[in-house]
Amino acid sequence: MDKEKIMDLYAQHVSPGKVEMYKKYDIALVPHKRRGVYLYDISGKRFINCHCNGGVFNLGHRNKIIMDAVKKAMQRYDIGNHHLISKPKALLANKLSATLPQGLNQVIYGVSGGEAIDTAIKLARAVTGRPTVLSAIGGYHGHTGFALATGDEKFKKPFEPMPPGFQQVPFNAIDALESVIDDKTAAVIFETIPATLGIVVPNKDYFKKVQALCERHDALFIIDEVQTGFGRTGAMWGFQHFDVTPDIVVMGKGMSGGIYPITATVYKEQYAYFIKENPFIHISTFGGSEIGCFAAMAVLDLCDSNLLAHVQTMENYFKEKLAALASHYPETPFTVHGLGLMLGLAFHDEMTALFMVKLLYDNGVYVVYSGNDPRVIQFLPPLIITKKEADMVMAAIDKSLEALSQSK
Ligand SMILES: Cc1ncc(COP(=O)(O)O)c(C=O)c1O
Repeated sequence: MDKEKIMDLYAQHVSPGKVEMYKKYDIALVPHKRRGVYLYDISGKRFINCHCNGGVFNLGHRNKIIMDAVKKAMQRYDIGNHHLISKPKALLANKLSATLPQGLNQVIYGVSGGEAIDTAIKLARAVTGRPTVLSAIGGYHGHTGFALATGDEKFKKPFEPMPPGFQQVPFNAIDALESVIDDKTAAVIFETIPATLGIVVPNKDYFKKVQALCERHDALFIIDEVQTGFGRTGAMWGFQHFDVTPDIVVMGKGMSGGIYPITATVYKEQYAYFIKENPFIHISTFGGSEIGCFAAMAVLDLCDSNLLAHVQTMENYFKEKLAALASHYPETPFTVHGLGLMLGLAFHDEMTALFMVKLLYDNGVYVVYSGNDPRVIQFLPPLIITKKEADMVMAAIDKSLEALSQSK
């Protein structure tokens, strides 16, 4: 089937708005073949995927080791039964706990990140008996029930009324949090590095202060590691850069290598009593599918110290090369910020960033900009990217900046 026909069908039955928008900017990518860092449009055009669905493809597209684990699991397993005891769920929970600080060892599985956030908020409200949930203005935790309620007005408005008790505060501003947190606060929830806000790395001591405020008010500290988890920042978990131990950690995206959906809400042992007393209070038919568990276990095996060291090496490589490009094109100023391979390329204005997204697309690099700060291009290459592939990305950025300079 040709590309036009697919786009027509998609417009007819799935999303006419998306098709219209992508066609308008001539960036209608219809993924076809995919492998490693590469993603091919159905026309045959090749891209290096530097979006990676926000971390889903950390280990590249169709990673062979994860595919083999899933294929093997499929010979004996299916999704399992969410009412019953499960060996793969138990094994994965044990393996996940080993990557987290001591005590963070209770796992509730989900299918999507939004669902896992909802679960975290349910749990926080249940164990504190309090209503209020504080989150970041411009942050993003998903489009499901409670996750949506933590987010910005523009996404909530059409679906009002929202559940009560949700309030947003500026991110990385401890005084603002201190002024609203009180004895009604069930939880404070933040992404470690909010991507939608523009890949904002908070001050080194911010989360420590957040944790102290939560402790002072007996509120739970929830960290959303959906994008920052599984090595994306050069540490297994993003929060490890900030020397804190959250009460609940939410993970998704990269958890199963983009092969089989699975997410998790991992919480401290001291709250296990609630699920023990109410074992059926939260259930999810597909949550923690047994085949997904095998995908996630393969991912955990791959997220070893070698991968983390590689991410750190590539972080330095990209930062150095990008800084060199920035000084080579002073007429298109941009800065680079972020941790590991979760980088933001911040341009002076929105239009320049949008042009760059388009030029990079034309030059075979797929990126997106941050919804709540469109001056910032989200630059999330696969963690397994080699120096040779990184050089191809840099050549595309160079070419795009040159084209931009010539158009000025
Ligand atoms: C930080 C963060 N949290 C939660 C979510 C929601 O995940 P999902 O789309 O799997 O529901 C996302 C999705 O982009 C995200 O980036």
